[in-house]
Amino acid sequence: MTVQEKLGQLQQLTWTGDTGPGGGQTAETEAAARAGRLGSVLNIHGARNTNALQRIAVEESRLGIPLLFGLDVIHGFWTTFPIPLAQAASFDPEVSRRDAEVSAAETRAAGVRWTFSPMMDVTHEPRWGRIAEGSGEDPYLNAAFAVAKVEGYQGPADGSRLAADDRIAACAKHFVAYGGAEGGRDYNTVDVSEQRLRNHYLPPFKAAVDAGVATVMAAFNTVSGVPAHGNAHTMRTVLKDEWDFGGFVVSDYTGVEELIAHGFAEDGADAAALALTSGLDMEMVSTHFVDHGEALLDAGLITIEHVDEAVARILALKHALGLFADPYSDESAETTEPTAAARTAARETAARSMVLLKNEAAALPLDPATGSVAVVGPFADSTDLHGTWAGPGSHRFPSVSVLDAVRETAPAARVTHADADPARAAAAAREADVTVVVVGEDPALSGEAAVRSDIGLPAGQEELIAAVAATGTPYVVVLVNGRPLALGGWLDTAPAVLEAWHPGIEAGHAVADVLFGTVNPGGKLPVTFPRATGQIPVYYNHESTGRPYNPAHPDEKYVSRYLDLAEGPRLPFGHGLSYTTFATSDPVLSRDDITRAELEQGETVDVTVTVTNTGERAGDEVVQVYVHDVAASIAQPVRRLRGFARVTLEPGASTTVAFPLGAEDLGFWTNDPAGTFLVERGRVDVYAGTSSTAEARRTLRVL
Ligand code: BGC
Repeated sequence: MTVQEKLGQLQQLTWTGDTGPGGGQTAETEAAARAGRLGSVLNIHGARNTNALQRIAVEESRLGIPLLFGLDVIHGFWTTFPIPLAQAASFDPEVSRRDAEVSAAETRAAGVRWTFSPMMDVTHEPRWGRIAEGSGEDPYLNAAFAVAKVEGYQGPADGSRLAADDRIAACAKHFVAYGGAEGGRDYNTVDVSEQRLRNHYLPPFKAAVDAGVATVMAAFNTVSGVPAHGNAHTMRTVLKDEWDFGGFVVSDYTGVEELIAHGFAEDGADAAALALTSGLDMEMVSTHFVDHGEALLDAGLITIEHVDEAVARILALKHALGLFADPYSDESAETTEPTAAARTAARETAARSMVLLKNEAAALPLDPATGSVAVVGPFADSTDLHGTWAGPGSHRFPSVSVLDAVRETAPAARVTHADADPARAAAAAREADVTVVVVGEDPALSGEAAVRSDIGLPAGQEELIAAVAATGTPYVVVLVNGRPLALGGWLDTAPAVLEAWHPGIEAGHAVADVLFGTVNPGGKLPVTFPRATGQIPVYYNHESTGRPYNPAHPDEKYVSRYLDLAEGPRLPFGHGLSYTTFATSDPVLSRDDITRAELEQGETVDVTVTVTNTGERAGDEVVQVYVHDVAASIAQPVRRLRGFARVTLEPGASTTVAFPLGAEDLGFWTNDPAGTFLVERGRVDVYAGTSSTAEARRTLRVL
């Protein structure tokens, strides 16, 4: 390969569409493919399109190296699954494996072999719109969902199924700490200690690398002053050296170019040198590697080894994906719509992701034989409940609306509809036996560059709920949203509230399944819901202060709290109700102490919890285990999730779940930049129950 051909492999251009600034680069793409100066293309799909472009690369370029086509398939290609944040609320990573498997098959059939997913940015910032794309505020939960998605897209960690016609390469993004953006403002500064980086932001990426993730995408933010795209500590030292990551690192959209705006690089050549030497392998959209690579080599500012390393990583993935054996896609195998089975999977996933926030006096489930139902609110008849960054299917296949699904589910009922107008909604409610109020956020309010400074319900919606409440007709509230919301005073009086998130293509069906009790909800919040936007950041896994709030002395002044807000979140991480009731036993430890030597050898302490369905319906409970290292050389979070299991139980049935706690669960990373993981002697409190506020506790001693 000539130097130009090598540099060409490091270039990715966007075919069409604009998932970042600027438009498509269709003409440049064809020319670059012909010249052998292009490695990859994003924002292209359709086997005919990809084959036509591939033919240029394979038949007209000197070496005929095939292109790698990539696309953001975040929660579905044709079949839109619920947003990732919703999937995390299922506390069942298997739902994300299914999403990834369905997505992989549909995407691969459309000529694309690489998705820019999963996103695993742990975040404490609900204002940040991209909270919708990840698995919420906990690293352990994010890691579990990241692994399920990577395996669902790619198959086993050894990459042996990557070339199969129903698999695609995954991309762990955004590396790293993107969720720490100050103020939740997208692309904003992140200043993060080494221990926070390693304990909080890195674990899902490490889990994804262990699961064999083929690629990693750099993040738009700085990491303690050094932009992620030029960060040798994160990309080279941690990812490639410490973790031995064998895939390649792709930039984010114009991320190399943005090193200039960051005030890190002087110009494009400088940006290319900084990115490449720091461990970035492929440049998305901007063209500084190819434009300046030769001059940088001549000037000795990069070495040929840097270039060769990146090329080898990229070609290795192309080989693993089978592109050299067969660069084309079978146009006759292309699918054009979701299969019935895929729709069923999306519907089940959406229902499984819903969280019953409140249910007083068994307001839910509704009776399908009810005489009349009013379905009101700005999203009552919405057919756009796909959520942010939905795939091509979202343009062709509208979501099932809640209104239509209620009509289908309660065929004998008189079902009426009113929109967002409070007076009309109240009039409809007055005539009905029960009212379903569907409120929340338009999908455009979450996702990239969709940041809100106030995360309450958008204007007019609380008034709408109040107007319905004032009629005296029983009502239930369904929330469709892409982030935690600061729910107003109406939450105190609403009889029942169902958090449905943005549920995807089968939205209405899944909502109706839960409202009418075909599905008993069992999801849990993967994020804390604050009392007010001004309370942010409020998250369950915070460190304690020297002056924590003490509920026994609620009037004490000199404690860490707000004067004008009650203490604690509105709804805690891990919270979620069911139509049945459960009792959980106190946790039992298999032993009361364990030595550090035993932990080092891989021994574990088992925490067992027995859960019983004490109600009258079959239902799901999520047993959760949290740990707290009582005194450590680095102050530890007051709780950290270290185990969860979603179980289904018939009425009266019990089951015992065991969670092994090992060194990984009991230790922590220090501030040593070279990476030191410590398990210290001392007491560790182990909590078990059904939310992050579980009180049942046992104490383990590490000797
Ligand atoms: C986003 C990435 C995405 C890329 C390509 C960027 O704006 O940050 O998550 O994969 O665009 O569409």
